[in-house]
Amino acid sequence: MCGIFAYLNFLTPKTRKEILDYLLNGLQRLEYRGYDSAGLSIDRHLNNGVMLFKKQGKVAALKAALIDYLEDGCEGSYEDILNCHVGIAHTRWATHGPPNEINSHPQRSDPENNFLVVHNGIITNYQDIKKYLEIHGHRFESETDTEVVAKLAAHIYSQNKELTFRQVVELTCQQLEGAFALVFKSRYFPGECVASRRGSPLLVGIKTKLRLAVNHVPVFYSKDTKSRRGMEQNTLRRETSTEFTPLGEDHSTEYFFSSDASAVVEHTNRVIYLEDDDVAAIHNGNLSIHRISRSMDIESPDWREISTTKLEIQQIMKGEYSSFMLKEIFEQPESVVNTMRGRVNFKNETVVLGGIKDFIPDIRRCRRMLLIGCGTSYHTALATRQLLEELTELPVMVDLASDFLDRKTPIFRDDVCFFISQSGETADTLAALRYCKSKGSLNLGITNTVGSSISRETDCGVHINAGPEIGVASTKGYTSQVVSLVMFALIMSEDRLSLQPRRSEIISGLENLSEHIKQVLQQDTIISKLAEELFQKRSLLVMGRGYGYATCLEGALKIKELTYMHSEGILAGELKHGPLALVDEMLPIISIITRSPVYDKCMNAILQVTARGGKPILICEEGDTSTEELVPGSTYIHVPHTVDCLQGILTIIPMQMLAYHMALLKGCNVDCPRNLAKSVTVE
Ligand code: AGP
Repeated sequence: MCGIFAYLNFLTPKTRKEILDYLLNGLQRLEYRGYDSAGLSIDRHLNNGVMLFKKQGKVAALKAALIDYLEDGCEGSYEDILNCHVGIAHTRWATHGPPNEINSHPQRSDPENNFLVVHNGIITNYQDIKKYLEIHGHRFESETDTEVVAKLAAHIYSQNKELTFRQVVELTCQQLEGAFALVFKSRYFPGECVASRRGSPLLVGIKTKLRLAVNHVPVFYSKDTKSRRGMEQNTLRRETSTEFTPLGEDHSTEYFFSSDASAVVEHTNRVIYLEDDDVAAIHNGNLSIHRISRSMDIESPDWREISTTKLEIQQIMKGEYSSFMLKEIFEQPESVVNTMRGRVNFKNETVVLGGIKDFIPDIRRCRRMLLIGCGTSYHTALATRQLLEELTELPVMVDLASDFLDRKTPIFRDDVCFFISQSGETADTLAALRYCKSKGSLNLGITNTVGSSISRETDCGVHINAGPEIGVASTKGYTSQVVSLVMFALIMSEDRLSLQPRRSEIISGLENLSEHIKQVLQQDTIISKLAEELFQKRSLLVMGRGYGYATCLEGALKIKELTYMHSEGILAGELKHGPLALVDEMLPIISIITRSPVYDKCMNAILQVTARGGKPILICEEGDTSTEELVPGSTYIHVPHTVDCLQGILTIIPMQMLAYHMALLKGCNVDCPRNLAKSVTVE
């Protein structure tokens, strides 16, 4: 979805060209999130105001338009050196109003660009604010919810010119409802930048020449309604005490604001993840973080940690691969190992998940477990439910986050809720988490993104450690999520004597998983040939049951999101209750059939298909001669045999590869499918 990148160089001379390169490069790092237009704002030549550039389409189109404009010299030379400058940039995924230049960000307060803002999220009360501003003479040019933010800031400032930039933003944000990450630039406050967030992620990157002298930034409160010691206070704190000077004497600093660490890591690994309602302001090169008042219901610290992100630039580069998706599919032999690293001891057959170990006794006592997610993350819940039921003997519910919320599902204090989300920012999943928090359940996050909202707002959790997943279609994220929940099930059953043989076979399956995935990846040529047969079909069914069912849903999702072809995952047990009517000699059906207690039932369904002229394509196990005897002349994709609960990891990989090859043949963008975003931060 939308992406924010802003750059402030304080006493760090940079040419205008360097600044533009930073901004455009930052936007390119955010492209994977999905967007349909891009824009940026920098200062004009000789402090003559602020200029705004926006373009529908890709960042490359914005770059080309900028080069054309700046090369004619009307805004001063590319080589002008700027000692202190603020540039803000944005990739927009249209929500309010179609993708076009006017609706792109930055949005402005007026034609002079007095206040500019970039925004991720949705302002839900923008209509009310718009009416109010219109009454006060403001004329709107875009259809966005964001324009009200820039205009409201200008309106507030026009009422009181004594206000600082930070105060203007604070007062503006107090009027906003909904979810937002906002970064402001203003013609009135050159060299200053102010940002705030609520419900949408935002971080500040800090780069200094010398090592930072501190590892945290204090938080200051405009109004302290109640101090920690319980004393009533209503004092406005002294402004001068609120600033953070990173290096004592040497003030030269570069700051980056971004919705995503991947846009910042090539500049610095020192980042601060802002909390909801933080207002971060940079003034005279110093960063300060403010809040209106202390939150009474949560114990939030009076400082923000400057953490060191472990993300490496190589991890977000494609390397030798033609696309991120292909890279991520082929990374799976390593990513599953990284998920288990330091957690599974194959020799002693023990598993430790540091992030949840203190909560295991509470989890064991719970009434039921609920697994909640969206899209692929929901499929992870389906893929692991059976094992969790078996190894915990607890009731396990799986839910799509949006439906879970629509139903206002009853939640009790002795429930344990799992929020599964690769990005850790999915709006529906986050809303479900907040709902469960209000009901008092114990909440666990299963995420891939350190510092994400879900990882911060849950009581405890597991980072799946799959490494950054850039392709919009989740691949390694899915397999690592499954491995994480399998590890959790193993912990829950560690003291059950009767389950030890079962645990041993699963742990041995985990030990061999990486090798097995490598063997599946060797089927690439067969799968690309199959893609040639299938890519022009109108529809594709994927059928299975038991542990194969999640593969059907996830495989069908991969096909539809990447190839735009209709595809449906069906439970083999449901075939005769409806889908059988679709079957004829034309409709391609992929069947997942592996050796398991439901093998015969799966085979029955396949035979019902062949009896009606259907020619199923079979994903089956190596050495499984009986399937080939029973269904002769089909196309077979062989995967190694493993323990039932891990078989889904091996059967989904051919589906990922098939979707990838079909998308290439259809000329689709495999990393950024149309209309989709990597991180869905709106409900
Ligand atoms: C998967 O290929 C999709 N892009 C999508 O279904 C995704 O899994 C879903 O939006 C949830 O995302 P999350 O895991 O980041 O919460």
